Amino acid sequence: MATATAKRPMSEGLARNDSRMRGSPLLEPGNIEPENRSVDYGRYYDPGYFTLEVERLWRRQWLLAGREEDLRAVGDRMPVDIGPLSFFIVKTGENDFKAFYNSCLHRGTLLCAKAESADSIRCPFHGWEWHNNGALKRIPGHWDYTDITRANGSLREVQLERWGGFLFINADPAARPLSDALHIIPDHFRDFAPERRFTVAHVRKLVPANWKIVQEAFMEGYHAAVTHPETIPFTSDGHTQYDVWSNGVGHVGRLWAASALANTEAGPEITPLYAAQAFLQSMCDWRYPNDDVPALDPDVDLRAEIAEWHRKTLERIHGRPFPLPDGLMLDSVLYFMFPHCVFFLTEFLPLVFSFTPHPRDPSLSYFEIRMLQPWPENASRSLKTPVVEMGVDDRLVDNKELAFSFVGLILDQDMNNMPLIQRGVRASDPALRHSHLGANQEMIIQYWNRLFDQCLARP
Ligand code: FES
Ligand SMILES: [Fe+2]
Repeated sequence: MATATAKRPMSEGLARNDSRMRGSPLLEPGNIEPENRSVDYGRYYDPGYFTLEVERLWRRQWLLAGREEDLRAVGDRMPVDIGPLSFFIVKTGENDFKAFYNSCLHRGTLLCAKAESADSIRCPFHGWEWHNNGALKRIPGHWDYTDITRANGSLREVQLERWGGFLFINADPAARPLSDALHIIPDHFRDFAPERRFTVAHVRKLVPANWKIVQEAFMEGYHAAVTHPETIPFTSDGHTQYDVWSNGVGHVGRLWAASALANTEAGPEITPLYAAQAFLQSMCDWRYPNDDVPALDPDVDLRAEIAEWHRKTLERIHGRPFPLPDGLMLDSVLYFMFPHCVFFLTEFLPLVFSFTPHPRDPSLSYFEIRMLQPWPENASRSLKTPVVEMGVDDRLVDNKELAFSFVGLILDQDMNNMPLIQRGVRASDPALRHSHLGANQEMIIQYWNRLFDQCLARP
């Protein structure tokens, strides 16, 4: 396998001989080796940094704003809140969406405070009204506002582009196209086909930590053995591959953690068969609680055996083939798109995360989680999953509707660390006040923070 580097050997999960991987873009290594081994802590709590972030990062980048299925019918609309910024997206046609600044042209009132549907956009304060495409419709008492005309009175639009059923917005009219920002992602996700999936669970959780602290908790597998001891028997930090790609505009980090292999912290009693069977058990408990857990044959490739079982199970449930490589049937494969979202390229954990700041407080943020499932063949696209809002103390594992069970437990363990990190970075000795990042395992954190500094330095 020619794709590993001496510095960062290819994980076993990738390198194993799977014919579906032959010629796959997934084998391409990243082209960035960041050298940014310490990151100053002020970025996690300093109000000045927070303000700059709003103006120089959030106003200028392509941001994940939702999924097409969030807006079912023409006229449906929803707010997109990013810290103090707010936009809203309207479904303006069967296959058309527009995004606007969420601010009335009269005296600034928020125009869309919740997901709703209407034939027009009407301000609740004095009733200025726009067509759903943003064109001015009516101003009550227009005689007093003669400088506002149909020519200059349209709602202020921001860029909206789509990929894979996802809606992205960018408030910078000069921004390069979304395809530049996605970089390698569409190529790597081609067979996974996110456009043929839909949201089956959707949560937005308030977290007592800066959004970067929350996102960084998912950028390395190093914490797994201590924070998630249940995964020691079947998730291997020693077989985790990290890559970063950049084309100068788009930046993508990938964490590929092999499953069904024991962690380096596991004792000798965890045999390869035990690791594989324990993984299969946990996947079945979470995803297929009504299926019998098959007994694995120790004489064949255990990961290939699990992958094939999962492939057959998905084919039986969804009535279509799942031609993805073995690794994507059982591993945790996360693609981080700069600056704030993660697409999981795996049938084991088909999730999407995004991280956004609180409107005012740098030490709070929102963690949004979606689970995507393959779209039922021939089904109408009218399914819609409402977002479940969760507070700081709500546990994901308790929400039975979401059926997050095992994954909920893991995410709750991550969330338990959040207030401790937020308070701890603030409490550090002022003479230190920076992290010590691993050269390999924390390379995505290194690179993201270098990019944040570059974005904030640009006037
Ligand atoms: S603020 Fe919107 S109509 Fe007056
Ligand atoms: Fe974790």
